[in-house]
Amino acid sequence: MEFEELSRKLEKRESFPTLSGVISEIVHEIDAEKISMEDLGKIIQKDVSFAAHLVRQANSGAYVEAGRVSSVAQAVRAMGFRVLKGLCMTLPVFGRHKDVPGVSELWYHSRVASLCGRILSEKLQIGEKDEAETVGLLHDLGKVFLTLEMPDFMAKQSQVSGTPGSKADWMSEREHIGIDHCFIGSRYGRMFHFPGVILDPILWHHEPEKANQNKELAHICCLGDQIAAIVGAPHPDYPFVEPALRKSLDYLGIKMSLFQSILEECLKRASSVSLCDFETQS
Ligand SMILES: [Fe+2]
Ligand SMILES: [Fe+2]
Repeated sequence: MEFEELSRKLEKRESFPTLSGVISEIVHEIDAEKISMEDLGKIIQKDVSFAAHLVRQANSGAYVEAGRVSSVAQAVRAMGFRVLKGLCMTLPVFGRHKDVPGVSELWYHSRVASLCGRILSEKLQIGEKDEAETVGLLHDLGKVFLTLEMPDFMAKQSQVSGTPGSKADWMSEREHIGIDHCFIGSRYGRMFHFPGVILDPILWHHEPEKANQNKELAHICCLGDQIAAIVGAPHPDYPFVEPALRKSLDYLGIKMSLFQSILEECLKRASSVSLCDFETQS
């Protein structure tokens, strides 16, 4: 696909994965900011599969303060509207394409990165933890678009992944397509009215130093992304840790002892995320 054709596609909402009726309704109600958690829970229960997934996600170790979650209402209360909207945008998309090579692994990476972002926000007391978690959920969503639109390119990328000296995924994308998954992901988020505090970190998660606004959250997303690779949830098309890790540690003022305790916490919570999260997703 030519760069121009790809650019044209990115201008149209129909180029991005559509959301089912119930999921669209949930997103619409969250955006309108008028619904109660209880009423939103009733809408969610109309989609049994999605409701079951939410309860499972709410028990994934991110919301320890909520205790054991056994109902949709509890799940919504534990995660909040912002993360719920993030899951509406990601769970059905990843689930629908779970059999496409690399997609399940990318979901696992995204979920672990989102938990790591939440932990970083908590420990460093920077930003809102649910913002950091939502950014992590969405940060690599542009790769799903590329996997579906440019399967040959992405398959080639997977073949060279793991080769010492290979370029990072986003660099190869820019070199061969002229655009990267960060740009595509932020475009997707903008179409669904996410604010700049979510869009900027998605756009700059590999180059947080370039973010003009929301720079701290961009560094947190970058760090969460790299920590996910360290704790066993790497990108399927680039398993290495990038030098940006060091820059973000310095920018956020994280010393080695603190980094070690953050890693331990991330490792502990990552163990509650399963690769088989889509077993019941239609
Ligand atoms: Fe990325
Ligand atoms: Fe990533």
